[in-house]
Amino acid sequence: MVETQLELLDQIEQGALEALGGVTSEQGLEGWRVTHLGRSSPLMGAFDRLGQIPKEERPAIGRRANEAKRLLESALAEKAAALRQQALKRTLLGDRLDITLPGRPLARGRLHPSTQIMRQIQRIFAEMGFQVYRSRDVETDEYNFQLLNFPPHHPAREMQDSYYIHSPGSGDNPMLLRTHTSPGQIRAMREYSAANPHNPPPVRIILPGMCYRYEQVNARYEVQFNQIEGLAVGEEITFSDLKGTLSDFARRLFGQKVLTRFRASHFPFTEPSAEMDIECFVCGGAGCPVCKRTGWLEILGCGMVHPVVLQNGGYDPQRYTGYAFGIGVERITMLRYRIEDIRNFWGNDLRFLEQF
Ligand code: DAH
Repeated sequence: MVETQLELLDQIEQGALEALGGVTSEQGLEGWRVTHLGRSSPLMGAFDRLGQIPKEERPAIGRRANEAKRLLESALAEKAAALRQQALKRTLLGDRLDITLPGRPLARGRLHPSTQIMRQIQRIFAEMGFQVYRSRDVETDEYNFQLLNFPPHHPAREMQDSYYIHSPGSGDNPMLLRTHTSPGQIRAMREYSAANPHNPPPVRIILPGMCYRYEQVNARYEVQFNQIEGLAVGEEITFSDLKGTLSDFARRLFGQKVLTRFRASHFPFTEPSAEMDIECFVCGGAGCPVCKRTGWLEILGCGMVHPVVLQNGGYDPQRYTGYAFGIGVERITMLRYRIEDIRNFWGNDLRFLEQF
């Protein structure tokens, strides 16, 4: 009797340990626990039957049963630890951070097409010795018009419908958003001549910046646009200097072969005044829709600085002469890239902007 009971316990233990060897998951292990150590397991059955066993045999069998139970429990704990270790290893391998993967690309911004062309124009003039002078966007009527020889009510103001700023009591000198970069000519000349009123230094500057006009917006006109003004003042500056400088500018911007022509024009602040055209680079001068069949494209206004303007800037017109010019940046950008609608510039449509 004792022997059979002890053998049975050996078998129970043996069978359980073998089954444990085949367990590969935590769920499997829980199933094993229920089968081999649970309430209705063979081992628990052996404990239950102890009562039916003769008293003197009980201790030996009871000891063996307890021994088998402890053995299976510690085998269970070991197996559980081993399974946890395996699972950890699996996730460590599977979820490993691969730092050799390239990062996500950042969307890089770029310069607005107007800014690109402005910088190109500024570089060209810088090479010719012009410095950049930054003037203000908010002006007075005096600087924007009067000192440039547009008296109040002068008809030439009609071309520059303006955004006035409500400023009570300002009379004939209200504030406004500058309609062109030309008022910077007066500000610069006054600044330079104030330093040395009897012997003002020569001036060779460009004045880039935004201008504002009260326009009916359409494909050709916007309420804001950039200009680059130029001003050279000194002794013995002539119209030949103006022509030479601006023709050279056109060659540097549009290519050495480009043809230029000067047409007489009118601006109150220059005398004589002109507009410069380049030969249409779309049709080579034959005539096409871009040049409106003239073969020429207008790119800037220019002229010799009017004596009154020199005087207003603190430069004696008996001694000094000068030339000035004004370039429409968006106009040049439109010609350059065949942009047909000026509203694209400030429309903030990435599909447009990303093309430059
Ligand atoms: N200020 C003029 C405009 O906006 C452009 C211009 C023409 C500027 C002739 C000049 C110039 O300096 O000489 O229409």
